[in-house]
Amino acid sequence: MIDPRPSVFARRLSPIRRVVAVGGGKGGVGKTTVATLTALAAASAGHRVGLLDLDIHGGAAHLFLGIEPSFPEEEAGILPFEGAFGLRFMSATSFSGDRPLALRGTEVSDAIAELLAVTVWPELDLLLIDLPPGLGESLLDVMRFVPRAEIVAVTTASLPSVRVADRFLSAVGSAAPVLGVVANMIDGNSGAADPVVRLAARFSAPVLASVPNDPALESAIGRPEALLKTTSAAALDGVVNTLVGA
Ligand SMILES: Nc1ncnc2c1ncn2[C@@H]1O[C@H](COP(=O)(O)OP(=O)(O)OP(=O)(O)O)[C@@H](O)[C@H]1O
Ligand SMILES: [Mg+2]
Repeated sequence: MIDPRPSVFARRLSPIRRVVAVGGGKGGVGKTTVATLTALAAASAGHRVGLLDLDIHGGAAHLFLGIEPSFPEEEAGILPFEGAFGLRFMSATSFSGDRPLALRGTEVSDAIAELLAVTVWPELDLLLIDLPPGLGESLLDVMRFVPRAEIVAVTTASLPSVRVADRFLSAVGSAAPVLGVVANMIDGNSGAADPVVRLAARFSAPVLASVPNDPALESAIGRPEALLKTTSAAALDGVVNTLVGA
């Protein structure tokens, strides 16, 4: 049977010029950090930017942005929050708060579909999707529901992270353009993070940024202006330029 939902999602996303999913497969490598800092940096540079947190179980982007979960406004759909620098934001945590969501596989799919179906995005230059960890159903759902999404992969230079990022890019790269790879939590003296350079080369993609291991990040979480002053945010310039131009 034909699934009618992707055409609804396509209509909801139609005011958006570019949709970019930030993933990587491995948990805890900095996908949410890279997605939120890139979204904030692009918004503060004057671009119209949205951030959609599709990590249904582990949603954390609201913490970086300092947005308290509260039920969003309805207007023939649900309006995304307007955060710092006009950044538009939507997440399952808007509905669940910080309570755990006891959802099984198909229910997680339904929650992703619901967020894509009800959110009324305004005209945007860029929508970043913060993907959950893993290569399973949620990732496949997002790729099926949002076939126009382009991909940015995040990995550390550590072997397990690079290996899983390789699998992530193999899983999505045949269906979606890979814009590049972000190396995260790179030690100051580890140079160009060779494993990440080799990973990007295997997918004929550039290394868009090399983000240092940044001890100042933690104290800036929840404060967008402070986040933008971190060296991590500055290191993401190359990502912002690739996604929305200089
Ligand atoms: N460059 C960095 N320097 C220091 N700490 C970092 C850096 N990048 C991310 N972190 C920290 O590492 C932790 C994990 O980051 P984050 O939540 O962005 O990872 P994730 O890949 O989205 O995780 P998950 O797989 O659970 O979604 C957070 O506490 C974050 O603040
Ligand atoms: Mg995350």
